[in-house]
Amino acid sequence: MSRLFEPVTLGSLRLKNRLVMTAMSTCFAGPGGEVTDRLVEYYATRAGGGVGLITVEEAYIHPQLPHVKNALGVFGSHLIPGLQRVTRRIHENGSRASLQIGLYFRQALNGFPRYAASSKAPDCSAGCKELTPEEIQYLTGLYADAAERAREARFDAIEIHACHGCLVAEFLSPYWNHRDDEYGGSQSGRFRFALEILKMIRNRLGDEYPLLFRISGSEFTPDGFTPEDAVALSKELENGGLSAVSVSGGLGHVNHIAIPPGDVPRGLLLPIGKQIRSEVNVPVIIGNSMTPKMAAEAVSSGMADLIGIGRPLIADPQWPHKVKAGRANEIRHCLRCNQGCFGALQDESRPYIRCMYNPEVGREFECPIQEAESKKKIIVIGGGPAGCEVARVSKIRGHRVVLLEKSAFLGGQINLAAATPAKSDFRKMVEFYAGELKRLQVDVRLGTEATDELLKSLTADVYVFAIGSRPVKPPIPGVDLPHVILAWEVLAGKIQLPEGPVAVIGGGASGLETADFIADGHHSVTVIEMLNTAGRDIQPGIGVREGLMQRLEEKQVKIFTGYRAVKIEEDGVIISDRPLIGGGNETRVPAGRVVLALGMQSPLSEQRPDLPDQAMWYRVGDCRNPGNAIQAIHQAFDLAIRI
Ligand SMILES: Cc1cc2nc3c(=O)[nH]c(=O)nc-3n(C[C@H](O)[C@H](O)[C@H](O)COP(=O)(O)OP(=O)(O)OC[C@H]3O[C@@H](n4cnc5c(N)ncnc54)[C@H](O)[C@@H]3O)c2cc1C
Ligand SMILES: Cc1cc2nc3c(=O)[nH]c(=O)nc-3n(C[C@H](O)[C@H](O)[C@H](O)COP(=O)(O)O)c2cc1C
Ligand code: SF4
Repeated sequence: MSRLFEPVTLGSLRLKNRLVMTAMSTCFAGPGGEVTDRLVEYYATRAGGGVGLITVEEAYIHPQLPHVKNALGVFGSHLIPGLQRVTRRIHENGSRASLQIGLYFRQALNGFPRYAASSKAPDCSAGCKELTPEEIQYLTGLYADAAERAREARFDAIEIHACHGCLVAEFLSPYWNHRDDEYGGSQSGRFRFALEILKMIRNRLGDEYPLLFRISGSEFTPDGFTPEDAVALSKELENGGLSAVSVSGGLGHVNHIAIPPGDVPRGLLLPIGKQIRSEVNVPVIIGNSMTPKMAAEAVSSGMADLIGIGRPLIADPQWPHKVKAGRANEIRHCLRCNQGCFGALQDESRPYIRCMYNPEVGREFECPIQEAESKKKIIVIGGGPAGCEVARVSKIRGHRVVLLEKSAFLGGQINLAAATPAKSDFRKMVEFYAGELKRLQVDVRLGTEATDELLKSLTADVYVFAIGSRPVKPPIPGVDLPHVILAWEVLAGKIQLPEGPVAVIGGGASGLETADFIADGHHSVTVIEMLNTAGRDIQPGIGVREGLMQRLEEKQVKIFTGYRAVKIEEDGVIISDRPLIGGGNETRVPAGRVVLALGMQSPLSEQRPDLPDQAMWYRVGDCRNPGNAIQAIHQAFDLAIRI
């Protein structure tokens, strides 16, 4: 069996295996940092999936300094009983619990003044208060107070957050820390705050209590914290009595190594982990985009002692059990889309994290999937993500389900998304649904278009339409010329583009991703977008948009924003800088092929389709309101738990 499942000890703490759930803020706590049922059962479910150690998300140590909305708190003794509920449920489900303790001024939400390691830090142009040595000592005490509370709440270990641009990381990093007193200047000056925290916690909790630091292996930034810094810091921490070091990377919100989207290579931190491991004796935990295969290899080849896994456990808490049982093919793999999880942290309108295609995340406490009281026959029309999710949940609830899909495969538009350069992980979603529907023995009929006659002949109690949306073809003069094609046709590989210039009309997500797909060195690509900003429908700040825009720049894709395509000609597109009705300055964009990416519309009318009189019918996903997959899947789930 893989060494991943061999026991290991972190100081005095024995773990049943070498898998560690890394800290991830959920926003499931209450407004005052208190534990909620939602938070408790989310962690209990992950513990039940077989992971050896759960690092409960970063808890804030000063009442005015939560780092995200509804962050978990550990700043007062009134919070201890709630935290005890978390540890009790994690222990009952067979795992061990660690609490990450941290402090951010940069992300502080309550309007608290921005203090910093250094007022000369790159993001302090608007003014930061540089912490004085007295203030630093006060904060050191807050870490130690929080550590004592964590132990009282029966956490088996604590972890100090010291990467991703949090306060300790600011001190450690030459990128942020430009002090010239004893807390800066040299490497040992930069390390002082971290080491003083360690020392004070050790003084208060003794030598035995398991104590971890989560550090950066590299900030991957010019002038940032380097692998050499990471090795030196790990040695110093080991000398100070550290039990294990957990290695992450990046600079938090400044670059996207910390929570990498799908275009960042996997395993970036492994060589650094190996380097640290060769220089220290304490166990080294390495995470960041690990697949089961990479995790097993990293442990067996000695690159890491333990493997940190984050988002894969949001998507599928059973990841460890499935890997151990040789059922890795059944995992609901994380797509590194960052849409549901990281995206929620960056978006004030969303209360807490969710997952693209695990709609149970955050709802574990209410056990949303229950056996149906009356079993029905359900016909699902369309095998995109919405149809697959309705079929999956309905079958689990005991209904008889038939799924009709007109094409030869499941997945709908997800197959197109997976064809684009940064989203190949999306293929895993299609594989998951295909595997689950087979395992659940859903009657899936591929290559079967649902016509009125067929639907009538398959009498059922419930019909769920999940037939997706269709690309809009606007009445631009020349739109029917033979060289005008749809982005879908390009991404589906139905059309090979001859060499030469290509114009993409529409600079939303699918237009830009299609441009990214086409711009391969043989085609010069121009995108024409009517709005002032291209890619407005891609959430900023979670790495996806940033990576895409950077690639388009590198591939020299030209983007015209604020321009309307007024006419398509045989070898070009006429565009106008008066997007309302055209006119003004007109420019000609040369194009041997013109690709349309102008949004989606539903093919269904509001009217009841021609169905048996007594039957119920519903619409879900893009055919109800064209949007995105996460919306389609969650809508499908919400319907399926009610039928
Ligand atoms: C390039 C691209 C990138 C995208 N990237 C993202 C992303 O990063 N994140 C995100 O959240 N969303 C993304 N989307 C959008 C997302 O893919 C869709 O919102 C989602 O697939 C909608 O799901 P659905 O099941 O409602 O419809 P669809 O995926 O369109 O599936 C509908 C299915 O119904 C079938 N069907 C239609 N008519 C019939 C019939 N009469 N009988 C039987 N079967 C029928 C179709 O063949 C199809 O398989 C992307 C889309 C594209 C094109
Ligand atoms: C929603 C979310 C919140 C996170 N919050 C934290 C955090 O509070 N502390 C931390 O050290 N890392 C945090 N991370 C980073 C993860 O622990 C992990 O290092 C990262 O997601 C990469 O690993 P993965 O590919 O296994 O997810 C967070 C990640 C996500 C997705
Ligand atoms: S929302 Fe996306 S990135 Fe986050 S856990 Fe789910 S699949 Fe992974």
